[in-house]
Amino acid sequence: MNDETISGTKYAGGTRLLHWVSAIMIVAMIPIGVIMQQEDMQRSTQDLLFIMHKNGGVIVFALVVLRLMWRAASPAPPLPADMPGWQVKAASGVQWGLYAMLLVMAVSGYVRVRAGGFPVEMLDAINAPALVPRSDALAETAQAIHSNARFVLVALILVHVGAALRHAVARDGVFARIWPPVGRG
Ligand code: HEM
Repeated sequence: MNDETISGTKYAGGTRLLHWVSAIMIVAMIPIGVIMQQEDMQRSTQDLLFIMHKNGGVIVFALVVLRLMWRAASPAPPLPADMPGWQVKAASGVQWGLYAMLLVMAVSGYVRVRAGGFPVEMLDAINAPALVPRSDALAETAQAIHSNARFVLVALILVHVGAALRHAVARDGVFARIWPPVGRG
């Protein structure tokens, strides 16, 4: 923990950078996941998109776990004292919902691929064993979860981004807690 998190009004520099790197990756993962399944695509382009999506998903999983551990260890900076209680609760609910849905997406994606008998290049490169058995039924269930959970994730992202923009426009100090991604701002 550094001075910024103890006495300041901003998240620590590392937390802000982690937030924005994860945000960019997650926002890219969703359209890539949809586009890579188009049937009329060149094979080499499709392979590249699958590799980006699967391995990007593993990295997002690692970043979310890192963020959760970090969050447990260092408290968030205070919110403005005059912020209505319902907004504080809603913001916290949406944030925990986002963490939960990102874990659901990453785990269901992993299970879908491994149970289907497909590679996850990054993990294969370090000889990580498949953590689930080869099973078409399991792959199908995980695929259904992965495909449906995206709607919940997208809804939460829209609420989160909408609220963040409102705070940014209002300049009430809430958006400034997580901005800029690097430096003190
Ligand atoms: C937080 C991370 C992730 C997000 C936000 C995400 C998002 C998505 C989305 C939106 C789709 C399109 C679903 C559809 O069109 O029905 C998709 C498809 C897919 N994702 Fe992910 N994904 C994530 C992680 C992963 C991981 C870690 C893997 C595998 C290691 C993976 C493998 C796949 C596969 C194989 C598909 C194609 C659907 C299929 O044929 O099963 N995803 N993903």
